Amino acid sequence: MEWTREQRYTRIEEVSEEMYVALEEKVKKSKWRQTFHIQPPTGLLNDPNGFSYYNGEYHLFYQWFPLGPVHGIKYWYHTKSKDLVHWENVGIAIRPNDAIDSHGAYSGSGIEHEGKLHLFYTGNTRDEQWIRHPYQCLAVMDDQLHIVKRKQAVIEDVPTGYTEHFRDPKVWKHKDTFYMLIGAQRENETGCVVLYSSKDLLNWSFEGEIKTTLDEFGYMWECPDYFELDGKGVLIFSPQGLESIEDAYQNIYQSGYLTGDELNLETKTFSHDEFHELDRGFDFYAPQTMVDVKGRRILVGWMGLPEIEYPTDVDGWAHCLTLPRELSIQNGKLIQRPIRELEKLRKSEHQAEFILKNEKRTHESFNGTRYELICDFTNKAADQFGIEIRASSEEKTTISFDVKEEKLIFDRTLSGVEVPGKEYGTIRKCHVKGESLKLHIFVDTSSVELFVNDGEEVFTSRIFPKQGSDGIRFFANGGEAVVRAKIYELSSMNES
Ligand code: FRU
Repeated sequence: MEWTREQRYTRIEEVSEEMYVALEEKVKKSKWRQTFHIQPPTGLLNDPNGFSYYNGEYHLFYQWFPLGPVHGIKYWYHTKSKDLVHWENVGIAIRPNDAIDSHGAYSGSGIEHEGKLHLFYTGNTRDEQWIRHPYQCLAVMDDQLHIVKRKQAVIEDVPTGYTEHFRDPKVWKHKDTFYMLIGAQRENETGCVVLYSSKDLLNWSFEGEIKTTLDEFGYMWECPDYFELDGKGVLIFSPQGLESIEDAYQNIYQSGYLTGDELNLETKTFSHDEFHELDRGFDFYAPQTMVDVKGRRILVGWMGLPEIEYPTDVDGWAHCLTLPRELSIQNGKLIQRPIRELEKLRKSEHQAEFILKNEKRTHESFNGTRYELICDFTNKAADQFGIEIRASSEEKTTISFDVKEEKLIFDRTLSGVEVPGKEYGTIRKCHVKGESLKLHIFVDTSSVELFVNDGEEVFTSRIFPKQGSDGIRFFANGGEAVVRAKIYELSSMNES
């Protein structure tokens, strides 16, 4: 079904209760509903927003178009959690119903100040000629979760030299000053990020552009984030318009980071190493980080991409968020590990060890459509080894290691009848070193998150296999490999 502009700009407040309930019912019946991931009650979810710890709880909002699986008029939807694992739906947080956000409450971030959670976002507006005018806006949430929007934008203009693609404020505090990064497009149609500063979160001064060496690196940088970790500065952003190079930049848009010296807030210079992708899989974009109560830096991303159709669309919903990942830095590289708390989802546990002699093996306790699987492989002269998951006679998702090429290969060619974004390929690879390999995998109804070698690389992918495709097979080709495997059945996040 083609959505007209009018349909995409229909607000949830304008449709009848019956119509919305019918959509909810349709979504509930979808066979692809996730069980331990944040997903929209109906419609389309995209970027995580306002991720923060406030008043004893984690708050995570997301971009939401309520009425269907398309990018229509965006709201902020609110979820909260005490443990980053079990999330509760709170409801709509920000409605795009003012002059400064009339065509969408776009992405942004949260920061606590004077006992209240300040939510900064981009008000997307369009004029009669359908030309975009972005405003940087503020909504303030109190400890009763009551949110008040300011009618006046905190930044009303786009500075000279930049186009109307100017959005996604990320705010942090350094000493007694607040800083805001905004994703921008220069007038010459290259992407960058710019910096503002403020003493009170209300009056903001334009400081200028962050100077990196990536002057021509895509046409727009979305969703910037900056933080310091283990003595390094880290700049995360989602550049659009990169050409793929070998195994890199295979998706429609990318998402990655630069690490370097701490950002010089005076000169706005960021001396950094090369750009790394945050995720090597198919479905990952627009991540956001926060510092939790224990001081950990935690990242959540959108498990989806713009402009790609997904098999859930016909059921009236699209996308989910990734599991939270704890970040650290090793040799200038971001290491991403699933947060410890996810162990709370574990139910029964099974273990097995196999010597794979140029063969494929199964085990009666290893199967399922929702589980956590940890495999430690040791190579003994095999050419290739790995696993097939969500497997049946027709379907499988294959994760393998090519010993000669030293590459981890994630193959979703046979993951189900409908593989999203096929035009961007169905295989992703990246370089991974070593004779031994650890795969830590979370499988939900329609997704796989693979952490390689304790977070050295991550591959995130939606998959849409049949319910009956629940097999797990271990294999080694051309020689021998040993695998020690552990599987945990997982509870859904709604179970206690
Ligand atoms: C990234 C993005 C942001 C924007 C939001 C709108 O996916 O395009 O730049 O604020 O989505 O939903």
